[in-house]
Amino acid sequence: IGLRTDLPSDLAALSAMAATCQRCPLAEGRTHPVFGEGDPHARLMLIGEGPGAAEDASGRPFVGPAGQLLDKILSAMGLRREETYIGNVVKCRPPNNATPTPDQMQACYPYLQQQIALIQPEFIIALGMTAARALLGGAESVARMRGRFHKLGDIPVLVTYHPAALLRDPSRKRLVWEDVQRVMVRMKPPG
Ligand code: URA
Repeated sequence: IGLRTDLPSDLAALSAMAATCQRCPLAEGRTHPVFGEGDPHARLMLIGEGPGAAEDASGRPFVGPAGQLLDKILSAMGLRREETYIGNVVKCRPPNNATPTPDQMQACYPYLQQQIALIQPEFIIALGMTAARALLGGAESVARMRGRFHKLGDIPVLVTYHPAALLRDPSRKRLVWEDVQRVMVRMKPPG
């Protein structure tokens, strides 16, 4: 996945650009854009769908109920949130937490592309169908895509259920645990 020459080549400048972004109608409803946060050299990047109410209010990704569950998943993986990078497909909250439209996803995609190109993670976990579609294309369900590595350029992308889906259906937690263990097995400790 290539670095874009039409966008800033550091995360802080890119975030500053997103802060005043007017590329799509979601800009109108936002309190804060939620650019993403974490280690700029993270080995693991997690991508969600878009900000919810708590994220829009704070400007930080995954800080509401789904975020608390994500923190638990990360700590079960032996990772601290700060050593990963957590972002979203769209940076501004869709009204009523609607699924972002293809136009909105496309308008916001350059930011995500640049984030990935700058961070160069060893692994990406796509949380839910919106992230899977944005990163990998296609229209397969999470049920079909989960549990194995796909490729974005040469970066392995694991697809699993979104933590919000686990809040609705806790029986899927076991599947997510199986999925993330694949990343843990492949992500060797730093030498
Ligand atoms: N759900 C998401 O997809 N992203 C967030 O940042 C929070 C909840």
